[in-house]
Amino acid sequence: MSLLYRCMKPLLFRMDAERAHELALATARRGGGLLARLMGGKGLTRPVELAGLKLKNPVGLAAGFDKNGVALPFWRALGFGFFEFGTVTPRPQPGNDKPRMWRFPEHGALGNRLGFPNEGAAALAKRLLRKRTDGDVLGINLGRNKDTPNERAAEDYVAALEATREVADYWAVNVSSPNTPGLRELQSRDFLTDLLARVRDAAAQKPLFVKLAPDLDDAQLLDAAAAVRDSGCAGVIATNTTLARPEGVSFEGGLSGRPLAARSREVLRKLREALPDAPLISVGGVGGPEEAQARLDAGATAVQVYSALVLEGPALIRRIVAGLSPGSA
Ligand SMILES: Cc1cc2nc3c(=O)[nH]c(=O)nc-3n(C[C@H](O)[C@H](O)[C@H](O)COP(=O)(O)O)c2cc1C
Repeated sequence: MSLLYRCMKPLLFRMDAERAHELALATARRGGGLLARLMGGKGLTRPVELAGLKLKNPVGLAAGFDKNGVALPFWRALGFGFFEFGTVTPRPQPGNDKPRMWRFPEHGALGNRLGFPNEGAAALAKRLLRKRTDGDVLGINLGRNKDTPNERAAEDYVAALEATREVADYWAVNVSSPNTPGLRELQSRDFLTDLLARVRDAAAQKPLFVKLAPDLDDAQLLDAAAAVRDSGCAGVIATNTTLARPEGVSFEGGLSGRPLAARSREVLRKLREALPDAPLISVGGVGGPEEAQARLDAGATAVQVYSALVLEGPALIRRIVAGLSPGSA
């Protein structure tokens, strides 16, 4: 942990989790690359290809940390190999009532029921277009607005895709957040096959990923994998947050971090079997170089990190990238 984050962490952790997140993000936005370098970032390279995209390294920023894309220069300087912004919806929306974010440091976990608060897809695209530089790989994570029924969800995903067409290198179809009522039903084979076919058409040549929940049973997971294959999607991001709970943790929403690691690993193995050639991004409880390496060894093309970045601090990213064996990436 960098000295700077070691000083900041006790202050941030005394605040309400969402306020601390907003403060950290505002600081990252203002401090940009210089702040990131002070916190341990550095341009490490372990080049890897993901669905035809050239990543500087296989460690990415997971969706939801920077929903509106405000701190791209900071993430770049921290050493991430690619960045996923969003979830964005076509229209801006406020998300669920507060409080809606929690920390469980003793479990290495976070909880949230944010419900996609975001400024809308067009605002995200405008901001990222100003900040992106050559060599950045930007993923845009798409959702539907809360008040759009599942029967019309495809229209929302396509509208958010169109609004971000110019800036996205890939898109992720988020059908796995537990915090938008009904959203996870889109993972059923019938919904998903139709939805992905329509979004896939709109995505044209750019890769489309689907982000799945860790709480699908084996049959549901295989169904979702079949829908990915049949619709011509590039690959899968697995997993989103879970409704499962370790003992002593209770809140309404999705849990992330260490308690998710075992299930996320298992889902990765099953997807690798079901989709032998598809690029897979493994996310959920990646908290250090060993875990990241284990995911790559189990067939992930890349990994993403969210919770451990909050709990361990930004220097973690450089540590993970530096700890990967050169052959694997
Ligand atoms: C506060 C918070 C907000 C999140 N928001 C989103 C989101 O908007 N879209 C999404 O696809 N995933 C979202 N996620 C899920 C993460 O991208 C990731 O899949 C999950 O947290 C597991 O990774 P981790 O264990 O490294 O945190 C969010 C996670 C957290 C903790």
